[in-house]
Amino acid sequence: MKLKGKSAIVTGGVSGIGEHTVRQMVKEGASVLIADINEELGTKLVKELNASGAKVVFQRVDVSKETDIIAMVDKAVSEFSGLDIIFSNAGIGAQSPSTELSYEDWQKVISINLDGVFLCAKHAIAAMKKSGGGSVVNCSSILGNVGQAATAAYTAAKGGVTNLTRALAVEYAQENVRVNAVCPGYINTPLLSEMDEEAKNHLISLHPMGRLGEPEEIAKAVVFLASDDASFITGANLLVDGGYTAQ
Ligand SMILES: NC(=O)c1ccc[n+]([C@@H]2O[C@H](COP(=O)([O-])OP(=O)(O)OC[C@H]3O[C@@H](n4cnc5c(N)ncnc54)[C@H](O)[C@@H]3O)[C@@H](O)[C@H]2O)c1
Repeated sequence: MKLKGKSAIVTGGVSGIGEHTVRQMVKEGASVLIADINEELGTKLVKELNASGAKVVFQRVDVSKETDIIAMVDKAVSEFSGLDIIFSNAGIGAQSPSTELSYEDWQKVISINLDGVFLCAKHAIAAMKKSGGGSVVNCSSILGNVGQAATAAYTAAKGGVTNLTRALAVEYAQENVRVNAVCPGYINTPLLSEMDEEAKNHLISLHPMGRLGEPEEIAKAVVFLASDDASFITGANLLVDGGYTAQ
């Protein structure tokens, strides 16, 4: 088991990539605090996992609120006697031509997708330092590495996450805190559920492997980055994208 005895936080942990990462972390022996705004799904997931012998707790957290994040880290530390891993995954999608994007909508995407990742890192790293180190994995995107029309706020936020990851990696490298990001291509999750068949097929055509990714494929990459298998990896933005950015 790759994460035996480790304690972790997964934000946005009740759906899609986050949910599959929680399941994968539990399978690899971690105790997990699941943080999300969706209490109903969180309560259901915790009940299901704990019934099968896992050690997981749910906390309602809005990652754009610093007070929620402070409470989340405190809860993980007290529940699991320390914090080893955080996967800052919570995020929202947003599509709009930039000339029609309201400043309010821009700020909402930046505050959840970028500010939230910073605030999680800030408080999680402080806790990790107290217990000798840890591993931060941020959720960026292919759109943290390349541009795309009508996604200015999302792309700016993810570009910020990509470089924030590098900055934090350099800052905490000597304190045994590794900071990496996973950069998924388009993945079959509820985030894409509103898309019609034609739009989905177009997205598929952009991936040289000829398909979308599955959330389990991102979860396994996150577990790798979080685990001791990645002990000399910090500041990496690991593309898990079926070749999307290679062409
Ligand atoms: N699905 C994709 O194609 C894809 C591609 C690249 C990157 N990503 C990134 O992966 C991450 C997860 O996306 P997903 O596809 O699993 O989406 P999803 O919608 O299935 O899950 C996102 C989760 O985040 C939660 N959330 C939203 N706002 C929140 C907030 N303010 N505070 C706490 N939780 C909040 C939601 O309730 C939900 O459970 C996001 O950061 C997304 O940008 C997704």
